Amino acid sequence: MRRSFIIGNWKMNGSRAENDQLLASLSEQAANLNGVELAVCVPFVYIAQASESLAASCIAFGAQDVSVHPSGAYTGEISVGMLADFNCHYVIVGHSERRQYHQEGNLLVAKKALAALKGGLTPIVCVGETLEQRESGDTLSVIEQQLSSVQAVLDNDSLSQIVIAYEPVWAIGTGLTASPEQAQEVHEFIRKKLSGAADKVSVLYGGSVKPDNAKALFQQPDIDGALVGGASLDALAFIQIASAV
Ligand code: PGA
Repeated sequence: MRRSFIIGNWKMNGSRAENDQLLASLSEQAANLNGVELAVCVPFVYIAQASESLAASCIAFGAQDVSVHPSGAYTGEISVGMLADFNCHYVIVGHSERRQYHQEGNLLVAKKALAALKGGLTPIVCVGETLEQRESGDTLSVIEQQLSSVQAVLDNDSLSQIVIAYEPVWAIGTGLTASPEQAQEVHEFIRKKLSGAADKVSVLYGGSVKPDNAKALFQQPDIDGALVGGASLDALAFIQIASAV
């Protein structure tokens, strides 16, 4: 079933002291929110801290990447089983920063989504076009390829268990947001592509979501919430975004 989500992506930010404050403040303010699921995806080393801090809270937590391998000689990697061991619910896969700086391709991203599902985690699969691709009119074909790779490895039942985040690369961390109409056009396209799973998959928007632009985005019929980077490091801004759903 489509649900409303606001998911924070802390990226490579935080310290134990800062996280303590942020998580405590989020937990306190989230208690009054209804009808929206909240989660934070934190750096690997802070997952145990999130798990402890959020134990009594309605906020879930997850990681920002995962290995496709279950265990073994993969120095520096973290497996789905390890994330599950710390009760992670979510893992972001295919974030554009992984695609861009770590050369992750569509097939690897699809395999990560499959590995996450098999291990009992919900993958948040990111798709999105660069500015160059948008300007050359290739937005929908880029999204189509990114989605098709995922659909090629997941059956319809598995597909209905993922969360998708549409994040135009040109809008991430730039302060430039896709207009609600630009975002809706892509979200509608994604939903059509999901065919049998269309009513079950939540499709989130990401890219410079802030308290002042959230409402107009969430009013679009195919936008089910947001993946929030920068603004998720500020408890008040994050909760204001969640209140706009
Ligand atoms: P941003 O990041 O909100 O800082 O643009 C979003 C994301 O990368 O998930």
